[in-house]
Amino acid sequence: MADTIGMGLQGATQAVRFGWYLSLNRMVGWQSDRLGLRPRYKPALPAPTERAILTDLARLFRRDAEAVRDGLFPPLSDGLGPLDAFDRARAMLADLPETLRRRADADAGTVREAAADHGLPDYYTQDFHYQTGGYLSEQSARLYDVQVETLFLGGAAAMRREALRPIGDYLRGQDQRRMSLLDVACGTGRFLRDVRLTYPAIKLTGIDLSDSYLAEARRHLSALRPAALLRANAEAMPVANASQDIVTTIFLFHELPPEARRAVTEEMVRALKPGGLMVLVDSLQMGDRPDWDGLLEGFPVRFHEPYFASYAIDDLEGLLGAAGLVLHASWTSFLAKVIVARKPPA
Ligand SMILES: C[S@@+](CC[C@H](N)C(=O)[O-])C[C@H]1O[C@@H](n2cnc3c(N)ncnc32)[C@H](O)[C@@H]1O
Repeated sequence: MADTIGMGLQGATQAVRFGWYLSLNRMVGWQSDRLGLRPRYKPALPAPTERAILTDLARLFRRDAEAVRDGLFPPLSDGLGPLDAFDRARAMLADLPETLRRRADADAGTVREAAADHGLPDYYTQDFHYQTGGYLSEQSARLYDVQVETLFLGGAAAMRREALRPIGDYLRGQDQRRMSLLDVACGTGRFLRDVRLTYPAIKLTGIDLSDSYLAEARRHLSALRPAALLRANAEAMPVANASQDIVTTIFLFHELPPEARRAVTEEMVRALKPGGLMVLVDSLQMGDRPDWDGLLEGFPVRFHEPYFASYAIDDLEGLLGAAGLVLHASWTSFLAKVIVARKPPA
């Protein structure tokens, strides 16, 4: 039976979130102008108007609400009370002048000190997005979600939730207690929370290189059945061969240099059981939506994203195929691209 009440609730939640993150987005813009630190960059490639972006975002929200109506997944619940959300937004705005100054100076090195002697890969020890502390401080972990949603006007959660669709197809008719899912580079655990709310009994594992982000993920999952959260490099994961039914990775590949993208893919394939499902969600690539290419061109100018340009032209489908996966489906949704592949049965 169609869950029209769920759909209405989801629509209302998205509307409130959109209003909140749009306001924060505007505040970030005003602050940048006030400090004279808004980057002036006009992409050479075609870029969408703001109206086109908002229309497309509304389409994503509608799709997400329809999935709730159809029982594909539950309404979005990010588990944050209004006071906590307000406090995080306040902290983001307080941190903004520093972030903007670093962007103006192209200084992405605040993480280096925290990273010393941790045996982390060089490509990782930079302040991605000019975040204070890169991925290694508690403050950065606390601000990550509000920063990302402010950038995407509240659309990040719905883009991640696109990954629940192929997972739903794959798990239909299966006993979820016997199934396992590994989220590679789980960050603050936003997607793990969505999976846990949808599949309360599935065995869940999240891997990330940042202790602070894993601590935040633990908080986001705290009222739910726990997931195993492991600090590890996705290029050498502490999971057994052929141990996972599903492996997901969300918004990781654009932050990896090309050779690491390949190493992580091979690891994901190693971890998957024969017949297992792989779902990758990441940014659009050049040519996915040609009239949006200018956004992709401008993104690494506004945020420290040293590997984005190489990601945007990488042959992801070829990369997954070379690692032994068989492509099943691929689509774009707002600023995200979803790729679904399977490891061939033994
Ligand atoms: C853009 S965030 C995405 C986080 C999360 N998947 C999401 O949807 O918000 C990238 C994440 O990848 C993690 N990361 C980057 N390189 C990694 C690596 N080699 N191994 C494990 N985690 C990595 C970072 O610590 C960070 O949490």
